[in-house]
Amino acid sequence: MELIDVTPRVWARILAARNDEACLCCGDWSSGERAALTLYGGMTRTVSGQSVVAQIGQSLDGRVATESGDAQDISGKDGLAHLHRLRALADAVVIGVKTALHDNPRLTVRLAKGRNPARVVIDPTGRLPNDAGLLRDESARRIVIQAVDKPRPDDVEVIRLPRGEWISPAQILAALRGLGLNHVLIEGGGITIAQFLEAGLLTRLHVAVAPLLIGAGPTGLKTSPVPCLAEALRPKTEVYGLGSDVLFDCALAPEPPAQVLWPHRVRERPALRH
Ligand SMILES: NC(=O)c1ccc[n+]([C@@H]2O[C@H](COP(=O)([O-])OP(=O)(O)OC[C@H]3O[C@@H](n4cnc5c(N)ncnc54)[C@H](OP(=O)(O)O)[C@@H]3O)[C@@H](O)[C@H]2O)c1
Repeated sequence: MELIDVTPRVWARILAARNDEACLCCGDWSSGERAALTLYGGMTRTVSGQSVVAQIGQSLDGRVATESGDAQDISGKDGLAHLHRLRALADAVVIGVKTALHDNPRLTVRLAKGRNPARVVIDPTGRLPNDAGLLRDESARRIVIQAVDKPRPDDVEVIRLPRGEWISPAQILAALRGLGLNHVLIEGGGITIAQFLEAGLLTRLHVAVAPLLIGAGPTGLKTSPVPCLAEALRPKTEVYGLGSDVLFDCALAPEPPAQVLWPHRVRERPALRH
């Protein structure tokens, strides 16, 4: 396991590389700084024009909240700082409407240096009220992806997409690309991440594990079950010590054929609904 050390100078280099203003190869770095360059440097590049990273923070027993819905502070302070760095490297941060309604997250960059990404909520039936905090806060571009004609405030952009059982994650990414949003962070919750993962659209999956046990409550990723371990997805994974939390950085092929990775996806699809 590599321990990362995100010093101000290495973070400045990563942000500059993200803006095509510097390289990541030169420089005299400590081993922790080099680990940071490796971890975040991959996110400064795109594959086929887009970078799509998902991140989830969970407990040792794989939970993202208590049964009563308390989801604050699952990640330790360094896990939270990592999340804010991912936001700073993204053009857009995407969440599902359940997270928007439940957590009312700000989705801003506060624990790292960097710009606020555009906030994108996938809200197929228009459940998110127009006075939700993340729509009202004008410190970033705000976008709602919906399948209905619900009117939104003038300064909130609407992407109207058709819906079958789900809105196609590929169409969501194409629409974001059309708005110039090429570095995308899928921040949760588990249902939303699973849609992009099972469609083979994630470049990387970050699972940050914090050392606490919750015992009950919603689990993180909600992917379709595989019948036997031989069919489980086993991404190439690097492990990083963030400080308070441990990060599993999983590399995923940009567009693997879904029938290879998820042979039971179609049959098991309804199990994703919670
Ligand atoms: N620990 C973490 O890192 C973290 C991060 C984020 C959230 N959370 C926690 O996760 C929980 C919520 O997560 P969740 O998995 O239950 O829900 P979620 O992913 O936040 O939201 C899922 C909902 O978003 C809509 N949606 C997402 N993708 C869609 C698509 N492709 N097509 C159509 N609709 C789509 C659907 O809305 P409809 O239901 O309207 O159809 C879906 O039910 C909360 O407890 C929150 O605190 C934890």
